Amino acid sequence: MLVKNSWYIAAYSNEIKRELFARTLVGEPVLMYRKLDGSIAAIADRCSHRRVSLSRGKLIDDRVQCTYHGLEFNHAGECVRIPGQDAIPQRACIRSYPVAEKDGFVWLWPGDASLAADHPVPDYFMRSSPRYEGKTFFTPVKGDYLLAIENLLDLTHLPHVHPQAFEADISNFHPKVKVEENLITATRTLSDVPNLPMYIPAMGIDRVDRIQVATFAPGGNLRVDSIIRPVGSDDLSKALTVYIFVQVTPETDTTHFAYTGLYRDFALGNPALTDKLHEEFIEVVLQDTSIIEHQQRNHEQDGSDVKVIDILVDHASLAARRIVRRMYEQEQAQAAPAALQKKALAILTPEQAAAGTRLQ
Ligand code: FES
Ligand SMILES: [Fe+2]
Repeated sequence: MLVKNSWYIAAYSNEIKRELFARTLVGEPVLMYRKLDGSIAAIADRCSHRRVSLSRGKLIDDRVQCTYHGLEFNHAGECVRIPGQDAIPQRACIRSYPVAEKDGFVWLWPGDASLAADHPVPDYFMRSSPRYEGKTFFTPVKGDYLLAIENLLDLTHLPHVHPQAFEADISNFHPKVKVEENLITATRTLSDVPNLPMYIPAMGIDRVDRIQVATFAPGGNLRVDSIIRPVGSDDLSKALTVYIFVQVTPETDTTHFAYTGLYRDFALGNPALTDKLHEEFIEVVLQDTSIIEHQQRNHEQDGSDVKVIDILVDHASLAARRIVRRMYEQEQAQAAPAALQKKALAILTPEQAAAGTRLQ
């Protein structure tokens, strides 16, 4: 269920240079490069002539030249040169995608380009604000991105999958789950629980009160914000905040890319601590990756019609699946008439199509 009408992270900003960068994103073969003016172009990584990947070609100024017969395309996907002929048919043009750069990420809108401007690019302020420190980690995962969404919205897996990092069993602290249109919030309030082992050296306290807010917004924005306070303290000035995010970008139906970050608002100016937390966090991320890839293999081996059970803690992840399914079905319903119309136009002569003729 690939939802296309959403912003997804396509790459880190510093990965897109004056060279061709190809990646499959949300089922689309995409080619990106930085133009002479510094902005980013994203076009289909397919030549309209014989489907050769344009990423095998070369960048000439702001144009991409296909490696096979030399057709050239600009940043908007327009074919601007066909060797040996002057006329360039409209059909030679390929797709281009809306892109944006924010917080050190390149964001891509793989769906209906006319809708992109109405949707704000997600905010990962902790990456660009000096009030926070942390690092982001990139992982290609051989698993459906919905499994990653489920993983982060059900945090009762923490003591089982990550016993070294999360000792407390939180399964008896039931979250309050709120679903507002396309936003899910699951809030857990934990009182007098052990502090997480990775934070104890920086915070100097063993037991804490912790408010943990997990959120999901499509396409793949997942966050867990933790507000941590000394036990019994109402003094918010003593509260510390940790932001964990997992931004998932589906590659195909069965693979995705995860951008995972851990950022804090305390013990700033301490790069050694940042590195240590990052290393411990990577271990946690790889444990999640391992279980997601294992699930994917079992799903593929067993088939999709095998029934599974749902339990109380699945409330938020089931709501997320419903949101994704609803968006997916809406997109499919909208795409169907457009595909039919395209088919009808395809069997008209070019003159009839240009005159707006429709088949009865
Ligand atoms: S396949 Fe690209 S120019 Fe022929
Ligand atoms: Fe996890």
